[in-house]
Amino acid sequence: VYHTPELTPTDHNPDCAVVIDVLRATTTIATALNAGAEAVQAFSDINQLMTVSEAWAADRRIRAGERGGKQVEGCDMGNSPLLCTPEQVQGKRLFISTTNGTRTLQRVENAPVVLTGAQVNRQAVVDYLSQHQPETVWLVGSGWEGAYSLEDTVCAGAIALPFYEQNPAIVGNDEVLGAVSLYRQWQDQLVELFCQASHGQRLLRLDLLDDIKYCAQTDLLNVLPLQVEKGLLTLKS
Ligand code: MLT
Repeated sequence: VYHTPELTPTDHNPDCAVVIDVLRATTTIATALNAGAEAVQAFSDINQLMTVSEAWAADRRIRAGERGGKQVEGCDMGNSPLLCTPEQVQGKRLFISTTNGTRTLQRVENAPVVLTGAQVNRQAVVDYLSQHQPETVWLVGSGWEGAYSLEDTVCAGAIALPFYEQNPAIVGNDEVLGAVSLYRQWQDQLVELFCQASHGQRLLRLDLLDDIKYCAQTDLLNVLPLQVEKGLLTLKS
């Protein structure tokens, strides 16, 4: 388990990186693809998002920009997964830039396999890892502007738990065991935990409790976003 700020470009790449940003980027990505978005294109730079998406017809794109939990002016939406309904996203490319999650994606984009994980698609990530058994897996929490994230860590624990129970020696480092323990403790009270987390508090100040409740639903969606090109995610078929 890593937290984005620790990763430096010189770090060796894992065989597989799982980017986690439960509140809300990777929940939004899984939800949009499940709702029929053609693909999700992630940008750490919002200006680049606006420029690249210009080439797409307005009815074939949807621009999601979030900073500080709020919608970026000029975008079609912020980063709420609740807005990623089939009516909104079906057949469109979702261009997304968020405070942390899209930056995390960029940090690990050179890994051979990049997946996005959230509580809503936890089992789909576990199934992929069980099936493909990559040698090294990074579960990368996005955090908040360099700070540790409780919700991303508990999701990393939810992903690691089945592997830990199968073979405790597999976990690799203290952070994973800590994440597994955190998930075991809070797995039935994720909304309560998320509401106590610093980013959950930020979202509550923005009256986004419904987003938190949605993001806390374990295994809601059986979808696996996979990076097919740098920054471009589609559904793993
Ligand atoms: C992030 O990138 O940190 C989150 O997605 C922010 C948010 O959606 O509130």
